Amino acid sequence: MSEQIELFVNNREHFISVDAGDMVIDVLRDRLGLKGAKIGCDRGVCGACTILINGDPTAACSTFAWRADGARIVTIEGLAGEDGALDPVQQAFHDAGALQCGYCTPGMILLAKSLLDRNPTPGRAEITDWMGANICRCTGYKMIIDAVEIAAGREAGI
Ligand code: FES
Ligand code: FES
Repeated sequence: MSEQIELFVNNREHFISVDAGDMVIDVLRDRLGLKGAKIGCDRGVCGACTILINGDPTAACSTFAWRADGARIVTIEGLAGEDGALDPVQQAFHDAGALQCGYCTPGMILLAKSLLDRNPTPGRAEITDWMGANICRCTGYKMIIDAVEIAAGREAGI
């Protein structure tokens, strides 16, 4: 049995009919055409599908769409400005060369953003701990941590 839910994705309102077993990742990728969130493990472990739901980093592969009814969702597509200017965290990943194959990058950037939204100036240890929630199969962790540190440093005016 399907039901209609309301989602605010990247500040746009959508009314979508979903089945009980539909996951948020299915809605984003297959219904809304937002392919930035990736599917890796498909079981809530790797973080490739990380999005922000009401500000919290969330595994879209493991969240039922009906549970997100009324939620505000941010995906990687929603970060750049309308003029194409990169979000500061995206810019820092670019500047640090913090991607190899790029598969984990959307999830890493949103995970980093959720940290900086909570604490704009975390230290390296806190960054490392927070970013440990997601897996980079290319193991480019040092550059990823560097990128978040750069973003935090710019936030602090360093
Ligand atoms: S694909 Fe969702 S956590 Fe791995
Ligand atoms: S850059 Fe390839 S998985 Fe992280």
